[in-house]
Amino acid sequence: MKYQFFYCLIGLCLLAPVTKAQQVVKNTGDVTGVSVKESSIDIRTENAFINISVYSPNIVRVRMDQQQLGSDFSYAVIAKPKPGNVKVSQDDVNLQILTDSLKVVIQKKPYSITFYTLSGEVINQDEKGLTTSWIGTEVTTYKKMQEGERFLGLGEKTGNLDRTGNAYVNWNSDVFGYSTSQDPLYSTIPFYIGIHHGLNYGVFFDNSYRSTFNFGASNNRFSSFGALGGEMNYYFIYHANMPGIIKSYTDLTGRMHMPPLWSLGYQQNRYSYYPDTEVLRIAQTLREKHIPADGITLDIHYMDAYKLFTWNKERFPDPAAMVRKLKDMGFKTTLIVDPGIKVEAGYPAYESGKKEDIFIKYSDGQYYTGQVWPGWCHFPDFTGEKGRDWWKEQMKRFVNEGICGFWNDMNEIATWGQTMPNNVLFDFEGKKTTHQQAHNIYGLNMIKASYEGTRAAMKTRPFILTRAGYAGLQRYAALWTGDNRAEDDHMLLGIRLMNSLGMSGVSFTGMDVGGFTGNPSVGLYTRWMQIGAFIPYFRNHTGVNTKSSEPWAYGEESLEVNRNYINLRYRLLPYLYSSMYESTQDGMPVMRSLAIDQPHESKIYDTRYQNEYEYGHAFLIMPFESGKDYGSVYFPVGTWYNFYTDAPENGDTEKIIPLNYHQLPVYVKGSSIIPMQSLIQNTAEQPTDTLVVHVYKGTEANTFVYYEDDGNTYDYENGVFYKREIKYDPAADEIKFGTVSGEYSSNFKHVALVLHGFDQSLDGINVDGKKMKLAPQQIAFLNPISKFDPTGGFNVAPHCQVKVVVFDNLNKEIVVSQL
Ligand code: NOJ
Repeated sequence: MKYQFFYCLIGLCLLAPVTKAQQVVKNTGDVTGVSVKESSIDIRTENAFINISVYSPNIVRVRMDQQQLGSDFSYAVIAKPKPGNVKVSQDDVNLQILTDSLKVVIQKKPYSITFYTLSGEVINQDEKGLTTSWIGTEVTTYKKMQEGERFLGLGEKTGNLDRTGNAYVNWNSDVFGYSTSQDPLYSTIPFYIGIHHGLNYGVFFDNSYRSTFNFGASNNRFSSFGALGGEMNYYFIYHANMPGIIKSYTDLTGRMHMPPLWSLGYQQNRYSYYPDTEVLRIAQTLREKHIPADGITLDIHYMDAYKLFTWNKERFPDPAAMVRKLKDMGFKTTLIVDPGIKVEAGYPAYESGKKEDIFIKYSDGQYYTGQVWPGWCHFPDFTGEKGRDWWKEQMKRFVNEGICGFWNDMNEIATWGQTMPNNVLFDFEGKKTTHQQAHNIYGLNMIKASYEGTRAAMKTRPFILTRAGYAGLQRYAALWTGDNRAEDDHMLLGIRLMNSLGMSGVSFTGMDVGGFTGNPSVGLYTRWMQIGAFIPYFRNHTGVNTKSSEPWAYGEESLEVNRNYINLRYRLLPYLYSSMYESTQDGMPVMRSLAIDQPHESKIYDTRYQNEYEYGHAFLIMPFESGKDYGSVYFPVGTWYNFYTDAPENGDTEKIIPLNYHQLPVYVKGSSIIPMQSLIQNTAEQPTDTLVVHVYKGTEANTFVYYEDDGNTYDYENGVFYKREIKYDPAADEIKFGTVSGEYSSNFKHVALVLHGFDQSLDGINVDGKKMKLAPQQIAFLNPISKFDPTGGFNVAPHCQVKVVVFDNLNKEIVVSQL
């Protein structure tokens, strides 16, 4: 008895710290009950309610809370579960879920989850002892750090391509002139990709509270993701390759619509062009200087005292007439819109917003008032149908005036970079929540309203641009990376931001080409314009107190280079448009980090090479700081051709290449197929009726999905498109233009097939059963920078020696053989 008492005392003493620790950090604890409903399994543990459900053979969802799980709601996820074959079995120790693609094992005492391949390799596992835990309402899941594990993605995040060793916060922020290591920036995409031992997986943590991701920062034990509130709610995605992961993630959160063709042309902008005569002067100068362009964007000075849904009548006495004139010149007009509505009696948007009761309020029912451009403002509640409908109604006036693009700015919500109070309430689709949960999804809902409202009013495709957003934003808008600086490392950071966004479901991205704050050097500006030609949204923009930033603003030599690259952009539109189509189908981004094709090649993470990217399937872009004479490059596996000269380079090699101000280093992968068109000055102009299809000799079979439609309406959703596969099969020595699907007639009556790197002695070819002559030709992708050619090679542009054959663009299969 005496001893019993003694042991009890010791036991209590030993237990005491554990109990105390458990109170501070509450773990899931042991599994106490399991209930299986086909592919959805409810698990009760000592401290948590858990549901594991199979979304698809490749996607498993894990939900947990300290209380009973409520009904399901997400702004990001639009997919419904399609579990496929699922087998669930259990014993006292483990619960096992088997899908057609992966195996999940849940240990019962204590709860912890491990994801395996079907052949038994560990893809991802909870860090035992830590698993998932709560500190108050803060919930975090800890994953064992695998040997050599790398982390990619997470959307718009600064830093290196490989995020290992760093932690990141998600809280949409207004970050004027941010630094190259600043975090967080404007948007939140809580999706990352983990890579180790030849395996890759994705984790999408669908929680809009302020969240934190730790990829081995200040610890060598785990990676983790957690949020200050809400449920632990993540989707685990496994695929053998990266495109499969991106496809599954965009199955969940949706994909972009076909953008209006004009939005892929060159866009000119500044903060701000006014009055109307200045806008027209810029447009006119672009035309006079033969700089192709499609868009002009008006920044906040078009408004009357920054009041949304107004025009400044002195600066823009007849906006519709100005927009019409621009249209006649082949320009589309985009307007900036901010969410802040000025508090001012008699101002129609303010009065109607109050009347319709659509502004966000404090918990005591008083309006929330925050300061931004127009002064003190109220903010529409985009998280409810009522607020979104009000917004859609307001936008109609601009659509009636001919505006066809809306640039959604300051939608983090930005109130001069200040912290907004947490006790402001939002509708949250009738579920009422605080700013804490609604902050990160506010921008997403603003662009939802902008997209849906403009689409309904225009009936044709609007262009919507956004600064803030949340996972799934690609369904409504393109995103640009905000107020960057006119500095070399910012230009390169912009590329990494876009590459990361691309791996996070957002294909249509841009950055302020030329830099927003500060003034670039001539070299930097020109290099940036070259890169701009190879990013999805090509817009030149600069801040309010900076030097002019139009393509002619940096002197004649720079203008010639800029024009060369903008011309190239327009000639490449058939390629870009088809690449965008691919993004609408399987989420593959247009700008592709090399990690997408070669995630396990360590060289691509080398900080010397991490900015290299593929533009669509064919191009390898090697961006460098301006002013460098030489650059270190890595050519991934395969054969590569210098785009300007066709000089071949062996793959899987590191090299130092000379750099020059006139040319951005661009290479083309062997076996590539690149459709191009003749030069146009804007997309309302028709190119000639010959589609120029460049094929580069290679050893691997390759397929290019060529896509065309009217570039403007949604008729493509009803089958009015033109699509065919172009296949190059080196083993069979043939190029096959497949049969055409869709009801649209191609704009191109002929095909000029241009063969790069093929046998120079080849003079005949078989087209559709007939022998045709191949003509040798010299083609140049750039015009000579005649006056400024430093080598004295007057009037000589770099050129390629090719063989060309022209034939009719028949809708039936066309086989070109005997290459
Ligand atoms: C902030 C945006 O990021 C910037 O691009 C814009 O020019 C200013 N707001 C003024 O509207």
